Amino acid sequence: MRKQIVAGNWKMNNDLVETKTLITELKNAKKTSNAEVMIAPSFTNLWTAFESLKEYSVEVIAQNMHFAESGAYTGEISASMLSSIGIKTVILGHSERRAYFNETDELLAKKVDAALKNEMRTIFCFGEELSDRKSGNHETIVENQIKNALFHLDATAFKHIVLAYEPVWAIGTGETASPEQAQEMHAFIRKTLADTYGQELADSVSILYGGSVKASNAQEIFSKPDVDGGLIGGAALKADDFMAIVNAF
Ligand code: G3P
Repeated sequence: MRKQIVAGNWKMNNDLVETKTLITELKNAKKTSNAEVMIAPSFTNLWTAFESLKEYSVEVIAQNMHFAESGAYTGEISASMLSSIGIKTVILGHSERRAYFNETDELLAKKVDAALKNEMRTIFCFGEELSDRKSGNHETIVENQIKNALFHLDATAFKHIVLAYEPVWAIGTGETASPEQAQEMHAFIRKTLADTYGQELADSVSILYGGSVKASNAQEIFSKPDVDGGLIGGAALKADDFMAIVNAF
């Protein structure tokens, strides 16, 4: 049985007070599903969030990390620094980092390797632009993103990989992919895994959908056979909305 996961990517939102307030609201919210729940505050709030939630079934995760163990990389954060404060999962490859910080598949492969070396789990993000989908290239784009960054790994590494399909045109736009579009791409991703690593591994990897998931559409999206949960942006910033998505299974 694959893990069902709902992860909240807070992006560059919430200062220390807002972080504490949202965490208190999440602690008081009712969880009725068996989904694994994660939240990704900004770096400055990770320790506070980790300490506050360590007795709760909400995992605190990082939004990014550098590939180097240490060194002259001003402003960067290493995997070992994250591990030292209890963080065991990191989001890598988000389209905003690819777009604004020129993160390439090759750079992301190095980041995934660093996460594995530090026994961290990766939520690996990928997805096509609207122009790719309109031209029918969306599957090729996604296949290349996954293969270029992950297919150097051996099969055992995939125990530590969660995939997150986030069509760029659906992120923050309110233009959610239809449940059928999500299922079609997730099934393609799973077949891509199966063709190289075999069906058993492909069936074991959780594939999350991200891109304008809301309390109103989560249940239909999560009901699809190859959708194993969601990576949530805007809706993660309100406890009620986020927990409604968590409970949508
Ligand atoms: O990483 C999740 C994020 O990109 C989705 O954002 O606001 O469309 O849920 P949003």
